[in-house]
Amino acid sequence: NETENYPPQVKPPGTNRRIPQSIIIGVRKGGTRALLEMLDIHPNIVVAATEVHFFDWDENYVKGFDWYKNLMPFSYEHQITVEKTPGYFTSPLAAERIHEMNSSIKLLLILRDPTERVISDYTQVYYNRLENRKPVQVIEDIVIRNGALNTKYKAIQRSLYDLHMENWLKYFSLDQIHIVDGDTLIKDPLPELQKVEKFLSLPPRIMPSNFYFNQTKGFYCIRSDGRERCLHESKGRPHPVVNNTVLEQLRAYFREHNNNFYRMVNRSFNWH
Ligand code: A3P
Repeated sequence: NETENYPPQVKPPGTNRRIPQSIIIGVRKGGTRALLEMLDIHPNIVVAATEVHFFDWDENYVKGFDWYKNLMPFSYEHQITVEKTPGYFTSPLAAERIHEMNSSIKLLLILRDPTERVISDYTQVYYNRLENRKPVQVIEDIVIRNGALNTKYKAIQRSLYDLHMENWLKYFSLDQIHIVDGDTLIKDPLPELQKVEKFLSLPPRIMPSNFYFNQTKGFYCIRSDGRERCLHESKGRPHPVVNNTVLEQLRAYFREHNNNFYRMVNRSFNWH
């Protein structure tokens, strides 16, 4: 249980808890955990162990910045503190609140093909429901209602990147938001991490030797400080095979939103 010894009780001399200089704001199922764990390889980065949900949950936000800071790890002055809460990206309030805390903060946003993200989101909820002995439905029955796409489905709404981005761009300039390609991070993590090092103005310290491909898991795992570790088993789960017509409906729905998003960020992605 990662929260048990957290926050650590012993303060190493010369360290302090600091409010993050960079935040991974989402998107849920984009690969936020992989990004955080991989950035943690860097000696100048320290990461918050848990999802803090400070800016998106009112019951936490009212506790104030000291409460928030107390959840951050101890760091030296030359280190950057990073927290990740995937819910920030789709929250209507997080952007404004983060801006109020630090208007020059550097934001990291990891995105994945929106249709793939819906399926991943569904898969996570499916397993959560199974564990809690709640009834589950096949994905097609949730995505399609009365023959039409169920655009009210939360997982679909979370994949409308243009709508969420519009809100962030009200508060932050585009050069403050670095977008990590989550599909590329899965296949070849290092180049994506090197771009993040540059964005954070850090010296390049993440190396090819920090990754190895684990055949059993089917994903890259991390080698750092003499240890090898893969992400938790809930990360990188097999997805259900989705009916082709449904897939096409999802892709068609996202197409215009994706193009809109590409225009907003002056960059395109290999989304279907
Ligand atoms: P799936 O489990 O659907 O494949 P998040 O941490 O934001 O919830 O994102 C989870 C997703 O991270 C996983 O979704 C997986 O595809 C992706 N991912 C990226 N790199 C990974 C890695 N090295 N190991 C496991 N999952 C990884």
